[in-house]
Amino acid sequence: MFYNYNMCGIVGYIGKKSALPIVLEGLKRLEYRGYDSAGVALWDQGSGKILWEKTTGRVAALETRLSEKSWESHTAIGHTRWATHGKPSDKNSHPHADCAENIFLVHNGIVENYAELKEALTREGHVFRSETDTEVLVHLVERELTMGNGKVVLEDALPEALRHVIGTFGLALISKNDPGKIVVARRGSPIILGLGEKEYLIASDASAIVEHTKNVVYLHDNEMAVLTPEDLKIYNFSKKILNKSIDKIDWDLESAQKGGYKHFMQKEIFEGPEALRNVLRGRILSDIGKVKLGGLKDLEKKLKNIKRIIITACGTSYYSGLIGKYYFEEFAKIPASVEHASEFRYGNPAIGEGDAVILISQSGETADTLQALREAKKRGALTLGIVNTVGSTIARESDAGVYNHAGPEIGVASTKAFISQVGALSLIALYFAGNRGTLPETLVNKILPELKLMPGKMEQILKKDKEIKKLAKKYLKYKNFIYFGRKYQFPVAMEGALKLKEISYKHAEGYAAGEMKHGPIALIDENFPVFALVPKDAVYEKTISNIEEIRARGGKIIAVATEGDEKIKKLADDVVFIPETLEALSPLLSVIPLQLFAYHTADLLGLDVDKPRNLAKSVTVE
Ligand code: G6P
Repeated sequence: MFYNYNMCGIVGYIGKKSALPIVLEGLKRLEYRGYDSAGVALWDQGSGKILWEKTTGRVAALETRLSEKSWESHTAIGHTRWATHGKPSDKNSHPHADCAENIFLVHNGIVENYAELKEALTREGHVFRSETDTEVLVHLVERELTMGNGKVVLEDALPEALRHVIGTFGLALISKNDPGKIVVARRGSPIILGLGEKEYLIASDASAIVEHTKNVVYLHDNEMAVLTPEDLKIYNFSKKILNKSIDKIDWDLESAQKGGYKHFMQKEIFEGPEALRNVLRGRILSDIGKVKLGGLKDLEKKLKNIKRIIITACGTSYYSGLIGKYYFEEFAKIPASVEHASEFRYGNPAIGEGDAVILISQSGETADTLQALREAKKRGALTLGIVNTVGSTIARESDAGVYNHAGPEIGVASTKAFISQVGALSLIALYFAGNRGTLPETLVNKILPELKLMPGKMEQILKKDKEIKKLAKKYLKYKNFIYFGRKYQFPVAMEGALKLKEISYKHAEGYAAGEMKHGPIALIDENFPVFALVPKDAVYEKTISNIEEIRARGGKIIAVATEGDEKIKKLADDVVFIPETLEALSPLLSVIPLQLFAYHTADLLGLDVDKPRNLAKSVTVE
């Protein structure tokens, strides 16, 4: 069974055992998801108070702080954070508390309307201690409990508070004034309840609790639960009691961390649609046909004067940048170029004021990209980051930027980050286009709704996983591959080839389809399969001609084409069909079969998919 995508980690315990060691151990099990800070809140038996501690760094750092204290408790909640809003810092770590330090809350997910809520709550006199989106949740609950409208228990106040929230949450809270219970709720971010003998556990992910119990209840969206040492009650947000079935998990710890998938890379490919949803979340204002990017809003005037864009990055991030170039030129009519960061930094680039340099980096720590950023700044260019890891060096040093919110990516070969980078680039280019009025409204009104449909279309392709595995088997014996495509498909061809070579160690090259005749076609014979990326787009007929040229030389063709394309069936040896979409968004679809093909090839060869030889997830050396 596969379950939901998730970023930070939540653990909680209520029962007869000592809660703190169980929660800390659980948090450590969740650290593979992200570990920029950690914290706990617990009922202290001795003082009868709620005590809390939180810190930047790993759970071990939290443990060190706690080792100086002699806290004893049977009720605790804990959190390990992977920052989305607000850099990793002690004050941004969870739990968050209300003004009076009565209520303590941990949260996974994103509160999209937190800025508006924070403003309203501040006006009402609430005092915020952090830069996070999460903190509004605890103040909202505080407001319900102190508004004098009769709400005295958490389970009554919480659904009222959550009515104001747009976004996703999996959350747990405890309150000084409502002792002996933990209350949890879910919308969009997973919460699992573990059932023991006179004890209950909560977790955002089974790996935190599999050691303690195999009996679990999965909370669904818009459900909440109240846990006491004796009892577990589950309600919907209208306080109607729900009778839920108990599931048995039969995973060991490692497979629980991979969410039931065999490898992290496989899991991350399947998280692609959610990664796209997350980068788009709250940023498309469909009603007015506009894109909203909080990270760029203070730069509106400066951005209007940008004359040229230079995108620079490494590896997969570089290939997403190549797609971005088309976006900036097509949508915003700004000249754009893309350079490998390792070349840019030593290339003595002729850039300065009026230029924007966009740095793309999943980790935010790649040494070449970081140096390129510093070089660009030195020369007076405006620097914008597209970064997945909040608070990373590139995020900190860029003038402004857009976070991906794709969640931690663990497999060395990047997959969901690519999807999310393409999503971010499309948004930024549409934002520029909006500022400059370069794109007809009719087109904007076509692109924005289609972007929202893309995750669903991606899911349709993921259903072809078995079909693609069969293809991988069929072509397993071949040692060399070429991937080709035109325009938007050219970067995808290079990304597909990179995926195959980095994890299966097969030789693969990505080529512009039109360039085949200037050299690579000499390689083609019956032992040289070619991936032809040929969705129905403006250059379809041209790519078809290139396919004919390969066929004439005995080459084998695996095509990625649009559903309903009858012609391609006759030309190709094998076809993977993808749903129809706008040309500009087609990379988000055509890359998926290539990711799956590379994954299955490497897996069928028995290779270490998540940690391929000679490679590192984040290259912090030149
Ligand atoms: C390494 C990784 C790639 C990644 C590249 C850039 O080579 O193996 O998957 O695309 O670095 O990393 P970044 O974190 O800057 O996106």
